[in-house]
Amino acid sequence: MPHTNRKKKSSPTTVPGENKKKVVVHTKRKEVLDEEGWVHVVDTPRTRRSTVSKDAKSLHAGDFEVDGVQYINRTLDEMREEFGYWKKSWETDNSSADLKKALEGKEGSGVKKCVVLGLGSLQSARREGRRATFTQLAALETLLSIIGEKIPIIFQEPQFTDTDKQLLRELGYEVVEDPKAFGEIEENSLVYAIHCYADVYKKVSEQKRPAVFIGTDVENFGRFTLSETAGVTADALVEMVKQYEATDFPQIRHDFSDTKIYWRKNEKNEEEAKP
Ligand SMILES: C[S@@+](CC[C@H](N)C(=O)[O-])C[C@H]1O[C@@H](n2cnc3c(N)ncnc32)[C@H](O)[C@@H]1O
Repeated sequence: MPHTNRKKKSSPTTVPGENKKKVVVHTKRKEVLDEEGWVHVVDTPRTRRSTVSKDAKSLHAGDFEVDGVQYINRTLDEMREEFGYWKKSWETDNSSADLKKALEGKEGSGVKKCVVLGLGSLQSARREGRRATFTQLAALETLLSIIGEKIPIIFQEPQFTDTDKQLLRELGYEVVEDPKAFGEIEENSLVYAIHCYADVYKKVSEQKRPAVFIGTDVENFGRFTLSETAGVTADALVEMVKQYEATDFPQIRHDFSDTKIYWRKNEKNEEEAKP
């Protein structure tokens, strides 16, 4: 088996739980650039047959697979440590300060419940996916700290592992099975659903209209494949957010690409403002 080590071309970061493998330098080495921008240094043993090196794709294979999704092994301790790492990285990024600015004046906004859909698994074998999920969780904590009050936070993600659920419950959150969270959406709820597919957004639009909806910018719905299920569109969500004010979610890498914060307009004030 070829031995591999991973290094980033620039500004290397050591994420807890990674780079644990011992590097043994005794064979010819070759660099393979994968689709996430990681350079894999691959040792190629000198026999002819084994010079057929592992390609970058197979390096994304996880430690185990459930329903076609690849995961890596993590203990709860490693997950806590990895969350600490990405939370610190989020908190020191300008976008964290920008999010606080975007939420100025929204303290005590009447949000009494938060429903989080499609966060992704913190054990995803895709490093980029894991980073986005941890960062989205850290950003959610920033949001909640601004809202102030201690409110129930409900997570639903069919790809969660038992360790994901353990970590979230330890952080004080509730985790429910699909489709229970949709029924939890009320008029005083904040729905946090970053980069979800059309069927999830469609179900959101079929509930009571939440006070805040954070998800994909509806103007970009046509730009990429939003649907996992043929024929499902999020047209009703496009209609729903017509009653909302939109603010850009501050960008950090691709972790919040095309994401908007939609605030439901206060119909009473709108009526009063009419001539
Ligand atoms: C494109 S991924 C986004 C993951 C992550 N938020 C990100 O930005 O990388 C969409 C996620 O929605 C989840 N999902 C699918 N159906 C769902 C449902 N009914 N309720 C909640 N999440 C769902 C999928 O398992 C998947 O992890």
